[in-house]
Amino acid sequence: MPARNIAVLVGSLRREAFSLRVANALKRLQPPTLNLEIVEIGQLPFYNQDDEEPPPPPWVDFRNRIRASDAVIFVTPEYNRSMPAALKNALDVGSRPYGKSAWEGKPCGIISTSPGAIGGFGAHHHLRQSLVFLDMPAMQQPEMYIGGVDKLVDAEGNVLNDRTKALFEKFLDKFCTWIERNMRAA
Ligand code: FNR
Repeated sequence: MPARNIAVLVGSLRREAFSLRVANALKRLQPPTLNLEIVEIGQLPFYNQDDEEPPPPPWVDFRNRIRASDAVIFVTPEYNRSMPAALKNALDVGSRPYGKSAWEGKPCGIISTSPGAIGGFGAHHHLRQSLVFLDMPAMQQPEMYIGGVDKLVDAEGNVLNDRTKALFEKFLDKFCTWIERNMRAA
């Protein structure tokens, strides 16, 4: 079976983001059945329905990249107990024009991160709420609230302790099963 193409969206635009480190760690640990690629979101103009005809090229490229993927992994920090605006904007851009959402039916997984103890729980569940409306089957277990993330992965995406590495591997293993069960025919 060919590897499934996974769009990885990182909720932080920061160059040294811990969430980007986690995304890079997942890329390093991915099994041969997955092909993870980070899809940038920082270049997307704010969604404005007035701009749909014609849509800005970055919206078109982004929508096409999501459509071409088999599934999605979100790795996001928490901003003020919710998801960062850049990530919400990416969801909105991908969801339109009405009736042509790029997200529909794509299986997905969510990892929230924080240097703090709560692991971005608020961002994680606000994101999950939008995914219900976007009709994206979101994997439930293992729950991935990654607290203390600043001490877990280095700048090259190396995981710094065996327990976290095992958790990331378990997530990827379960995600393989999840997408095979939930992918819809194109
Ligand atoms: C934060 N931070 C934060 N942390 C948290 O655990 N819960 C929160 O609600 C918030 N709120 C928040 C708002 C804003 C505007 C910023 C900039 C930051 C701290 C945040 O977890 C920390 O800056 C992380 O390093 C951000 O993630 P990246 O960029 O490292 O992935």
